[in-house]
Amino acid sequence: MAVVTRNWQNYRRLLWTAAAAFAIGGLLANTAGRSGIALIFALAAIAALGAFVVARANRHTITSPSDGTDPSLAILPALAGEIFEQLPDPLMLIDAGGRVLFANKAMRSAVGTDAARKPVSSVLRTPEVLQAIDRTTKTGASSTIEFSVHVPVMRQYQAYITRTEQSPRLTALLLHDMTAIKRSEMARADFVANASHELRTPLAAVSGFIDTLRGHAKDDEKAREQFLDIMSVEAGRMRRLIDDLLSLTRIEQNEHVPPRGAVNVEAVVRSAAAVLAPLAKADHVTVEISADPSLPDVIGEHDELMQLFQNLIHNAIKYGKPSGHVWIKLASVAGAQPVAGRSGSESMLAVSIRDDGEGIPREAISRLTERFYRVDVKRSREKGGTGLGLAIVKHIVNRHRGRLQIDSQPGEGSTFTIYLPSVG
Ligand SMILES: Nc1ncnc2c1ncn2[C@@H]1O[C@H](COP(=O)(O)OP(=O)(O)OP(=O)(O)O)[C@@H](O)[C@H]1O
Ligand SMILES: [Mg+2]
Repeated sequence: MAVVTRNWQNYRRLLWTAAAAFAIGGLLANTAGRSGIALIFALAAIAALGAFVVARANRHTITSPSDGTDPSLAILPALAGEIFEQLPDPLMLIDAGGRVLFANKAMRSAVGTDAARKPVSSVLRTPEVLQAIDRTTKTGASSTIEFSVHVPVMRQYQAYITRTEQSPRLTALLLHDMTAIKRSEMARADFVANASHELRTPLAAVSGFIDTLRGHAKDDEKAREQFLDIMSVEAGRMRRLIDDLLSLTRIEQNEHVPPRGAVNVEAVVRSAAAVLAPLAKADHVTVEISADPSLPDVIGEHDELMQLFQNLIHNAIKYGKPSGHVWIKLASVAGAQPVAGRSGSESMLAVSIRDDGEGIPREAISRLTERFYRVDVKRSREKGGTGLGLAIVKHIVNRHRGRLQIDSQPGEGSTFTIYLPSVG
């Protein structure tokens, strides 16, 4: 609207100039006769040309700074501005003098300040981005660079910088957040490195013993028996690792498909404890199970829940106190804390597995469900652990739309509580 008004003002100025020229010309014609007519037209033409030149010159200053709008931004139609504002990726427009003319919502939240009208160097602190902006502003050559910011949290971006060819020349900076992609690339690389490392150790042991049995222990029957036992343990470790990796992949692939069956969790917990009874007996650990009467079934998949409770009960036996206790409690809880996609008013089943072991350091608790994470790697390996058990637990819980809560007091033991939505 403002632009239309200003254009009208320019044309009015042009008309007045032409009319004035005709009036002067008319006056001269009165005094100068016929030759004055030609003069009138010559003057009118010059005046009209002059007015036209003034109007064109004014096209570049049609938005006066006094109305608060930036002159260069007047060329950005309101609709385009609105679209830029809504873009999920951060966008910034910079003038030839290095001043920020426009920063959309995503950019404002990325740089943490209202950047408009500030020098770009005071808004962005990354030297390589500032240099690239400077280069593109001067040469017009587009560029793409990757950079990271470390405050307030580490984020990685790809920046695309380009410049308009029309006047006034604007440089556009478009950022693409690569943090999630980079993180998953890193996790994949870490995972492959960890899995290979975990397999390499037992494999090295097995091949070492094969060489020994072929060499100097060839005729030593006692040594042969001993080495074969160790090889069997190491082969078992490799098999468990591969089984765990496969089950992790399978559960992850199915995570978005909610289970449909109805499962009696008390029966599952009791049979998981029965499977592990020989291990508990070997460590002189007493496992006690108590359950509220008439517990509802949960929506779940039997085999996955079996795997989940076996992992947790096994951990409690392994990392609990030798000759200690493991207490398993099942209770129905109404209005348990909400989990993703569910309100807190639904009825949940809570299964808590408590041990009286040495507990878990506070800083380790949030990392326990990471693949291959172990508080004490040596101890876990000695007990045949691969460090995948709790990662599997986490994915099974997620698939069941449940929740895992870990409470631990170093020196006093740990409690792992699973909340699962009950049927009905
Ligand atoms: N009840 C517990 N008490 C103390 N530490 C525990 C307990 N449960 C788990 N941890 C710690 O968490 C780590 C990860 O557990 P997780 O079950 O994922 O792996 P793991 O038991 O070492 O191997 P896996 O379960 O694959 O055989 C363990 O190595 C241990 O350090
Ligand atoms: Mg485990």
